[in-house]
Amino acid sequence: MCGIVGYIGPKDAYPILIKGLHRLEYRGYDSAGVSLINQSGSLVVYKAKGKVAALEAAAEEKDISGTIGIAHTRWATHGEPNTTNAHPHYSQSHSLSLVHNGIIENYKTLRTELEKNGMTFQSETDTEVLVQLIEYLQTTHHCDLITAVHLALKNVIGAYAIAILDKRNPNQLIAARKGSPLVIGVGKGNETAAPGEAEFFLGSDATPIIEYTNQVIYLQDEEIALLNRNGKQLITNLESVQQTPQLVTLQMNLDELEKGGYAHFMLKEIFEQPNAIRNCLRGRIDRDTLSIKLKGVDESKDRLLTARRIIICACGTSWHAALIGKYFIEEAAKIPVDVEYASEFRYRNPVIDKDDVVIAISQSGETADTLAAIQLAQSHGCFVYGICNVVGSSIARATDSGTFIHVGPEIGVASTKAFTGQLVSLIMFGLALAKEKKTLSETLYHEIINDLTLIPEKMQQTLDNSKGIEQFAKIFTYCKNCIYLGRGYNYPVALEGALKLKEISYIHAEGYPAAEMKHGPIALVDEEMPVVVIAPRRGMYEKIVSNIQEIKSRNGRILSIVTEGDTQVKNMSDFCIEVPDTRDSFAPLLSVIPLQLLSYHIAVAKGRNVDQPRNLAKSVTVE
Ligand code: AGP
Ligand code: GLU
Repeated sequence: MCGIVGYIGPKDAYPILIKGLHRLEYRGYDSAGVSLINQSGSLVVYKAKGKVAALEAAAEEKDISGTIGIAHTRWATHGEPNTTNAHPHYSQSHSLSLVHNGIIENYKTLRTELEKNGMTFQSETDTEVLVQLIEYLQTTHHCDLITAVHLALKNVIGAYAIAILDKRNPNQLIAARKGSPLVIGVGKGNETAAPGEAEFFLGSDATPIIEYTNQVIYLQDEEIALLNRNGKQLITNLESVQQTPQLVTLQMNLDELEKGGYAHFMLKEIFEQPNAIRNCLRGRIDRDTLSIKLKGVDESKDRLLTARRIIICACGTSWHAALIGKYFIEEAAKIPVDVEYASEFRYRNPVIDKDDVVIAISQSGETADTLAAIQLAQSHGCFVYGICNVVGSSIARATDSGTFIHVGPEIGVASTKAFTGQLVSLIMFGLALAKEKKTLSETLYHEIINDLTLIPEKMQQTLDNSKGIEQFAKIFTYCKNCIYLGRGYNYPVALEGALKLKEISYIHAEGYPAAEMKHGPIALVDEEMPVVVIAPRRGMYEKIVSNIQEIKSRNGRILSIVTEGDTQVKNMSDFCIEVPDTRDSFAPLLSVIPLQLLSYHIAVAKGRNVDQPRNLAKSVTVE
């Protein structure tokens, strides 16, 4: 999700807010906005679709005075990227304005209740429900704003970082967070400041704050901050119990802050995966009934359930996700699935008809070949379902329905968290179809969903176990070629691991189904070429053990990815990385992580430009 900036103090707020939004531009976004209480006491909101420059143009000639304000860069999740849906959002009376990062899962229920009580809405966003709820509670409970905020947040399910202005009180700035980050900058001289001289800053990370102060408070989940112009701060939990915040002195420079302290965006995004998958799952698993709720499937059951077959079109890493999606959808929903490179599909005059359903997978939502494949499919009357990361992207708008993966902006050219987000979205899609087609027993259906809820934590364990990879990567840096092997669900992971190595370290690598080695590629094996084998305990374990033996007998060097506690493959390997046990179909979600890290550390050891590798672009919008 995107960016929040806030300010209250003696300075003009607007320049600080705009500069702060520019600092957050690296995070990627689709629209931006700012709200101020200006010197005449009016609460104003200026917002625009597109870049911060578009917002500055929208605010030109406007009254941008005032020493208190909030600002936002949006990464849309609910509601197209446009000016109406951009933040900040007014409350109905225009007394409040609010910005939000995150997802309000129960926004529809809350909006229905508020509409029944006469509230009207301007946007399609989940965020606007929150500011309307706060005002509604303030009015009906005859309470002050901070009390209304506590009441509202106790009724909210989901993730939020918010900042709120109240035109009736220009001396206070309110902020809160749960599941999305929010940092409070404490003005350097606040303790000894004369009245009206103290200042506070807000930022989704410290980048908008660092040039003004290095004294920060990282707001914790379910904490609410009341920041006053007199330098006083009150931080409470949802039960209104006062908290004792920890004041931290920042040591990082701006470049380090943009990457969250990581050396590259790719590394940051690899480590974001547990939280990114929590956001991908957010609001889509009914914990009471342990069932999947996918709006895109619910809205298009008639077409999806009568599909003669499913064709998945994609490119690159998204194509690897498609292969795993094929295996899972066929296994769970018993629908035949073909997987096509979009660039081939669009030109080879494929045999398709209106009873086929096409799934288009694209992180950027702008890949030209995938967009062309969609247009070809639709020209034959096919129903097209999109799995994208960017709301409002060309592919998201071109498809007939779809699921957003909600992993947040992916900045590194090498796709990591989007890949695992695509896999989880395909798994939820397959489960939703299986439920409708009754192709899974109730028991197995619930068991799979329960295993899915455990994945973020298992991803974290995998990351925690990854310490040794950096050292091992150094011995890879000499190699000119590398082979990745996997079977079943892990064959596409072998392809993905090879692509990661190729695209950021420039070492040639190939992924193969492990059994395919004896049909030729094993001739390549010698002590000069490392072989990476993905060999989790489930699936065709015994078969892959014999494949490893074939390679060992030819002096091949083995790096293996194994299930925790597996000593058999470990003893056959030169280096072994253990991942937690999970069901066979979920193994890719864990086994891909060490491969992402391996390619990252090899590329760093070779001095490569990890985030912008040569010859590559984050989105291939040309043929
Ligand atoms: C993957 O690391 C590459 N960046 C590339 O293969 C990418 O997956 C491909 O270009 C497809 O992009 P899309 O998912 O945005 O359509
Ligand atoms: N869910 C909110 C929206 O779609 C906030 C998105 C964000 O974090 O930028 O407007």
